[in-house]
Amino acid sequence: MNEFKPGLEGVVAFQTAIAEPDREGGALRYRGVDIEDLVGNFHYEQVWGLLVDESFQPGMPDPEPYEPASLTGNAPSDLQAETARLSSVWNLKKLVDIDPGQARDDLARLSAQMMAIVARSAAVHDGREPAPDDVVAQGKTAAEKFLLRWRGEADPDHAKAIDTYWICTAEHGLNASTFTARITASTGADCGAAMSGAVGALSGPLHGGAPARVLPMLDAVAESGDPEGYVKSILDEHGRIMGFGHRVYRAEDPRSRLLKRTAKELGSPRYEVAEALEEAALDALKERKPDYVIATNVEFYSAVVLDVADVPPDLTPAMFACARVAGWAAHILEEKRTGRLIRPSAQYVGPGERPASEVDGAPVPS
Ligand code: CMC
Repeated sequence: MNEFKPGLEGVVAFQTAIAEPDREGGALRYRGVDIEDLVGNFHYEQVWGLLVDESFQPGMPDPEPYEPASLTGNAPSDLQAETARLSSVWNLKKLVDIDPGQARDDLARLSAQMMAIVARSAAVHDGREPAPDDVVAQGKTAAEKFLLRWRGEADPDHAKAIDTYWICTAEHGLNASTFTARITASTGADCGAAMSGAVGALSGPLHGGAPARVLPMLDAVAESGDPEGYVKSILDEHGRIMGFGHRVYRAEDPRSRLLKRTAKELGSPRYEVAEALEEAALDALKERKPDYVIATNVEFYSAVVLDVADVPPDLTPAMFACARVAGWAAHILEEKRTGRLIRPSAQYVGPGERPASEVDGAPVPS
């Protein structure tokens, strides 16, 4: 048996041909293509195609007409519940009983519908009726259609912000939600079960996707006008500056670079304060940890870019899920094609052998 590694850190669980962060070079490539080459040249639905089919065409389809049974307006939980429900509503077959082509088509339908569910849930949250299909059909891209469904209008800058954010966060190797999706797929379950399991894993605040924590920092610095003092006060109390550091990258997170550029291009009103805080944080972290690279991560400028599109902080985990449908779908399909039931071992550290009569609550012999 191999040595126990808490959190499985550094354990190679799969081989994948989809993507993996290049930790030293600070690059992220999908099927070999740098995300720098994708943003601005392709839209999210085409990037979905690259990740899942290794082809930009036909890409992710439009969602088919579907009315979710009941939406609460809490997008992450609506998404998880409704995705699981689609398995039975659409009578999706178990992965073990279908060929890869059918699995791919199931994943394509699910991906498109999952985005529509989030947009509908966001509308419910705002107290609005989701826009009908004929209004949504006016949109040209998945991001435009998402905004039209949610708000009945699609501001071009908002659509660009969301499209860029989705492309940058579409896939990131073997993170917790992708691992969950692959484990479920490895049992031969249906694609809806694998996708909804992934949504559940993503809802935990430790799995990124929480730019909500960055915005209050920006507000505090804007109010005090003293980024250095703000950073010092956090570090002096051994706190962490949100949006900095990464378990994988030992260089600048390439997603951060792209999102920063996008925030500037879109004229984010928070750009200046974000840049001032970033500079102060990087200087202070370098001074305090000279031998450990702590650079800006994806969350910092994700917060700024999503803010440009007026995405409220509590919707950000669901926005992350929308982006990640591509990565999850690609991994579920890869698992179907190449995988084997995932069944690791645990090292038993519990009580030694003993009779039931020694367990608390056992009946006392009369
Ligand atoms: N602010 C202050 N100190 C930090 C930070 C930070 N953002 N990141 C790491 N450190 C320090 C940490 O305190 C520790 O110091 P010491 O050895 O004195 O206790 C040292 O650096 C190593 O920390 P670690 O947690 O062992 O390092 P890691 O590289 O495994 O941590 C991290 C990665 C993301 C958990 C961490 O950098 C962090 O907590 N960052 C802030 C939260 C954040 O931005 N999370 C989003 C991550 S990106 C999500 C995604 O890609 O999905």
